[in-house]
Amino acid sequence: MSEAVAGHLTTAAELEGLSEAAAALWAKLAAEAISRQGHFAVALSGGSTPRGLYRLLAAAPWRDRIDWGRCHFFWGDERLVPPDHPDSNFRLAREALLAPLSIPPDRIHRVPVEVGSPETVALAYEGELRRFFAPEPMLEGPRFDLVLLGLGSDGHTASLFPGKSALEESRRWVVATPPGRLPPPVDRVTLTLPALNAARAVAFLVAGADKAPTLRRVLAGDPDLPAARVRPARGSLHWFVDRAAANP
Ligand code: 6PG
Repeated sequence: MSEAVAGHLTTAAELEGLSEAAAALWAKLAAEAISRQGHFAVALSGGSTPRGLYRLLAAAPWRDRIDWGRCHFFWGDERLVPPDHPDSNFRLAREALLAPLSIPPDRIHRVPVEVGSPETVALAYEGELRRFFAPEPMLEGPRFDLVLLGLGSDGHTASLFPGKSALEESRRWVVATPPGRLPPPVDRVTLTLPALNAARAVAFLVAGADKAPTLRRVLAGDPDLPAARVRPARGSLHWFVDRAAANP
C-alpha cells in the first residue's frame, strides 16, 4: 500500500540552486533552535550531493548568517573506515565544512569507528546520542533539529538499504548494517527509522537524472524503498531536488 509522501518540495535547475535553498532552510532552523533551546543539533549526510551545501555554508555569505558557535554536528550514518579515509563521511564534512569554520572538537560528535566491531560502534554512538538528547523527555528518538539525507538510486537513505533488517528496527536509534549493493562495500552504522522520524526536520538533497525513477517511487510512497519510510512524526519533511532528478 503506497501512501504519497507529504513534504515541502523545492526544485532547482542545478545542484548549486538546491544547495542555496537547503542553506536557507539550515539558517532558518538554526536560528529557531538557538532561540528556543540555545543550540542547533544537525545530523549530516554522507555521499557526494551535500558537498556543495557544506562548502556554501562555510563561505560568505552563509558563514556569516549562522551562529556556528551554537551548532552541534552529528552524522546520519558512517562507513566503518578510518576518519581520514576517502570513503569517510566524517572526512567529507571535516574538509568541506568543519575545518573551514574551525568548529571545535566538543561540538563534533563523530561516529567512533575505532572502538571495535560494527555493533560496538553502533552502541557507542547511540550512547553519545542519548547523552546529548537525554534531557529531553524520552522520546522515541533523538530530537535532531535537522537531519540531512541523500537518496541512493536503489532507494536507500543514510545506510538503510532495501530489504535489510535495519529497516525493521523499532527501538534502537543506531544499528550496524552490512554493505549495501552500492559502493563502497564496507560495514556501516546508521540512524534507524525511529531515530530519523523523531527529527524536527528532515531534508533530502537529490540531484541527477539517475535518481529520477527512484525519486518518483519514493514520493509516491513505495514502502519497499527505505527513503519512502522517512516521515517525521512530529517534524517537517523537505525535498531539495534538481531538475534532472525531478523530471523523469
Ligand atoms: C552514504 C550516504 C548515502 C548517500 C546516498 C546518496 O553514507 O553513502 O549516507 O545514503 O546519501 O547514497 O549518495 P550521493 O549523494 O553520492 O548520490
